[in-house]
Amino acid sequence: MSKEVHILMVEDDAADAELIKYALRDGGIVFSLDRVDTERDFLHSLVQQTPDLILTDYALPLFDGFSALAIAQTKHPEIPFIFVTGTLGEEVVIETLKRGATDYVLKTRLTRLAPAVHRALQEADERAERKRAEAQLRESREQLRALSVYLQSVREEERTRIAREVHDELGQALTGLKMDLVWLGSKLSKDRKILQEKTKIMSAGIDGIIQTIRRIATELRPGVLDDLGLAAAIEWQAHEFQVRTGIQCSVTVAVNESPLDDHLNTAFFRIFQETLTNIMRHAQASRVEVQLKGEKDCLILEVKDYGRGISESEISGTKSLGLLGMRERAALLGGSFDITGIPGMGTCVKVMIPLKPATRNNLQRHEISYHRRPRSSTARLETHPRG
Ligand SMILES: Nc1ncnc2c1ncn2[C@@H]1O[C@H](COP(=O)(O)OP(=O)(O)O)[C@@H](O)[C@H]1O
Ligand SMILES: [Mg+2]
Repeated sequence: MSKEVHILMVEDDAADAELIKYALRDGGIVFSLDRVDTERDFLHSLVQQTPDLILTDYALPLFDGFSALAIAQTKHPEIPFIFVTGTLGEEVVIETLKRGATDYVLKTRLTRLAPAVHRALQEADERAERKRAEAQLRESREQLRALSVYLQSVREEERTRIAREVHDELGQALTGLKMDLVWLGSKLSKDRKILQEKTKIMSAGIDGIIQTIRRIATELRPGVLDDLGLAAAIEWQAHEFQVRTGIQCSVTVAVNESPLDDHLNTAFFRIFQETLTNIMRHAQASRVEVQLKGEKDCLILEVKDYGRGISESEISGTKSLGLLGMRERAALLGGSFDITGIPGMGTCVKVMIPLKPATRNNLQRHEISYHRRPRSSTARLETHPRG
């Protein structure tokens, strides 16, 4: 070890200090050293140059090792701290270690000092390295999280934009085309029966395309969510699910829902969709119960299926990215996502998100901007049972 270490020594006896320095040099330690014997100087020295190591005597006329240790523990707990003392009773030794000292060396056995210092410094290095690695890990997790927020928001924005374009532009163009075709048919004289028939077939074809466009736009982002709100969207989605899968899906809504913001709407709705997809794919359920309710400034969505029940290992599985995504979505709005399962009884998903943005955390750095835009009434394409 050739790197110079800076040592802060608490020692009133100059001769002892020399002996200690000698032992350090003898043990191959290259060092600079500040010697102090009062609390004031100790504090001053700590600030002047942060030491790599603190060595302290036990009792001094004006200061003591325990006080130095207490100060070091609050100001620099990472710095190795070694007692170098005359005889110490066993109980005192135990007490020093209990209070956080790294080691102790008796002045009568200074040959032990250098190895103790080497070890303490190495351990401190390892601790610092571990801390750095942990900080890096935390940082990359944060980055991943931010990336996932970003991806989610651009995806939602993109879906909204495409849904709108498909819905408004294509829908209107086709409606126009159909009207032209009807006009054309009416202008054809009675003896052009074949051509009249043809325009009718084409017109029916356009109707089919309009239906398909409605479906695509609605799947991308259901207009009912933006137009009628979360509760209506959940009811609509549950109905669709029931029709498509044959799994009975009942919804209870107990919220007097003033318009929620888009983040909340989207989060709940997408989590609900993902939950239904999971039920369809994994649950083997014949019945689902959905509850949307308000409770203590929070909005809560509970989805119970009476299927096989998710297992602990499925919940914590590294491949459970769908669950992870749902958890992230809720967490980003300061809420929580819980999933529990009982074998043979079913699975319960519970999402809870605070209603007020103020109580949410500040991770919404990537603002999502799928704001509402009034739609032309001629091209209203949403199909939902109520409304
Ligand atoms: N409602 C449910 N009932 C039973 N098992 C479920 C249910 N939802 C999820 N699971 C289990 O949890 C796993 C993780 O779900 P998820 O993260 O959405 O991944 P994926 O759906 O892509 O498999 C699923 O593979 C499935 O085994
Ligand atoms: Mg899934």
